[in-house]
Amino acid sequence: MNETLNVPKAELHCHIEGAAPPSLVRRLAGQHGVDVTEAIDGNGKYIWSDFTSFLKAYDVASSVFKTPADYSLLSETYFRMLAAEGAIYGEITISPDHAQAAGLSYRSYVEGLAAGIERAKTDTAIEGRMIAIGVRHFGSASVERVVKEVIGNPHPLVTGFGLAGDERAGHPANFAKAFRMASDAGLGTTAHAGEFGGPDSIIAALEFLRVKRIGHGVRAIEDKELVKRLVDEDVVLEVCPGSNVSLGVYSHLRFHPVNILRKEGVKVTLNSDDPPFFGTTLGKEYTSVAETFGWSFEDQMAITRTAIEAAFCEPAAKNRLL
Ligand code: ADE
Ligand code: ZN
Repeated sequence: MNETLNVPKAELHCHIEGAAPPSLVRRLAGQHGVDVTEAIDGNGKYIWSDFTSFLKAYDVASSVFKTPADYSLLSETYFRMLAAEGAIYGEITISPDHAQAAGLSYRSYVEGLAAGIERAKTDTAIEGRMIAIGVRHFGSASVERVVKEVIGNPHPLVTGFGLAGDERAGHPANFAKAFRMASDAGLGTTAHAGEFGGPDSIIAALEFLRVKRIGHGVRAIEDKELVKRLVDEDVVLEVCPGSNVSLGVYSHLRFHPVNILRKEGVKVTLNSDDPPFFGTTLGKEYTSVAETFGWSFEDQMAITRTAIEAAFCEPAAKNRLL
C-alpha cells in the first residue's frame, strides 16, 4: 500500500475552485467580508448533501477569491500539495465565470493562477496546465463567451477548453460551436459526461463536441457497445472515483466500474475532482483504488503514463515527464 507514495502521479481533472481548503476560504472570507457560513460548518467542513447543494457550496467558496494574489495562493497551495503526494503533472480546470462573478477579469484570473503554478514548479518541478471551462447550466451563450475570452487572451499555460456543471442541463449540441472554436484554436478539449447522465450523454458528447477525453464517463459501463467504442476510438476517461462515491453515483468504491472499464481496455486515469469537498486527494485516489482492486505498482504507473499521453501539454513536456 505504501508503495503508492512512490508512484509518480498525474492529475487531469481537478477544479481549482473545488480544491480550495475550507481554512483558506474562511481566511479570505474574513479579509474580504464575505459570509461563508452557509457553505462551511463549525468543524471547518463544506456543507452539501447532493449534487445541487454541492454546486451551491462550490459557488460560495469561489466567491472569496477576489484578487490575482488570492488565486495565486490557491494554485500554489494545490500544486505544492499535489507534488508532496508524488505528482509530476497536474491540469486544473479554471472557471472564468466564477472569477468574473467575484469581480476579476479573465486575464488577471489567469495571470494570478499562473503565478502560483510557477512558484510551485520552482520548488517542486511539478508541471501544470489549465483547462478553461464553460458552465453547462449557464447556457451556450455563456460557454461561447468563455471560449472567445480564452482565444482572445492566449496564455501558454491555458491549453484546454472544457464543459462542466450540471450535466442534466442542456444538450451537447448547444455547445458544438464553442467546442469547434476551441479545437480550431488548437486547444485540447474535454467535457463532463456520464457522471449523472447515462451512456446517451457520453455518446452525445463524442458526437457533438468531438472530444477525445471525457470527464468521468464511467456510466459508459451501462452500454457494452459504447465501451467498445471508447476502446476503438482511444477515448480517455478522467475517472474520479472518490467524487462518484461521495456524490452517490456508486454506493461504495468496490462497486465502482473503474476496474472493469480498465480490464475491457478503456484508457482510464485517476483524479480528485474537488478534493476537500469529497475528503480526497490524488494520492488517496491512487491508494484506495489500488487497495480495492489489487492494482500493482506497475498498474498505477500505467495509469500515470496514460494521463501524461493524454495531457494537454506540448510533446516536449510529455517527453520530459515520461
Ligand atoms: N464542477 C465541479 N465539480 C463538478 C462535478 N463533479 N461535475 C460537474 N461539474 C463540476
Ligand atoms: Zn469535474
